Amino acid sequence: MSKKYLALPAICFLALSAGPFSANATNPTAEAERALTLTPNIDNGRELYKTCAVCHTPEGWGTQSGYYPQIAGQLKGVTIKQLADIRVRNRDNPTMFPFAMPSSLGGAQEMADVAAYIETLPMTPYNDVGPGFDLGMGEHLYKQECAECHGEYGEGDTKELVPLIQGQHYNYLMRQFNWIRIGKRRNADEKMVKQIQHFGGREISAMMDYVSRIKPPEEKLAEPNWTNPDFPAYSRRSMPPIMRHRR
Ligand code: HEC
Ligand code: HEC
Repeated sequence: MSKKYLALPAICFLALSAGPFSANATNPTAEAERALTLTPNIDNGRELYKTCAVCHTPEGWGTQSGYYPQIAGQLKGVTIKQLADIRVRNRDNPTMFPFAMPSSLGGAQEMADVAAYIETLPMTPYNDVGPGFDLGMGEHLYKQECAECHGEYGEGDTKELVPLIQGQHYNYLMRQFNWIRIGKRRNADEKMVKQIQHFGGREISAMMDYVSRIKPPEEKLAEPNWTNPDFPAYSRRSMPPIMRHRR
């Protein structure tokens, strides 16, 4: 490992002690901006995805506990932006951090390649949903407060880098929504952060429950029992047990 990478935690520590919202910590890296403009190589993305599959599963469906998010079907630009935020520690993700680093993943081209491959993966029909209380309230609030950015069906927005959130595991939605709300995700959308301050716990749960139950459109949804043919020999029994990762 080169000196450059070893020095990074120290630099991040200095940036953070200057305040988590300091300009340096929130600027998207030039590399990610470049990645957004590159033409991806999906075959190379498939190769790179082998590392990601260990945690996110070969299908990209994550775990129902929501410890590992579903990333299958996510908009390419959103994945690139999140990878960059994880790299510069705008998102606290110690589990994935080493695998997002240039020494493991590579540069702008590789970020574009793996993100493009992930977008081609069909989404799980088996995501975890919330308790089912207050779904009417969840729908009402979602349409009023979220649809303008995330789309009527939670399909996201490629141009504005708004994530696709439909059909995501409930616990993951809850965790990320709250982390965005309290500023723990340090490069989130400022307008969203402001707009969601007033919600109470019951309203948040209702909205996430509703979003987790929005079915992706047919062309983005996997057939029941689909397994990723790019990983024919993968032993799915070795995958992390769901319960171990409940938070
Ligand atoms: C060692 C386990 C691990 C590996 C390997 C890993 N991830 Fe992750 N990843 C995680 C965890 C855990 C999270 C959720 C962190 C959180 O709660 O913020 C995550 C989150 C993400 C997110 C954010 C999703 C969202 O919608 O907010 C993206 C994108 C992502 N990973 C892509 C990748 C890619 C691409 C690779 C391969 C280069 C990869 N991950 C490899 C564990 C891993
Ligand atoms: C002004 C536009 C805007 C509004 C309004 C908005 N969001 Fe967001 N949301 C975003 C953007 C942009 C991101 C990505 C932030 C980032 O890059 O880290 C995001 C991220 C998220 C995430 C994290 C997704 C992931 O995979 O990491 C969730 C969950 C979410 N929003 C839910 C909601 C809900 C529910 C509402 C309504 C109460 C809402 N948002 C309102 C723009 C918006």
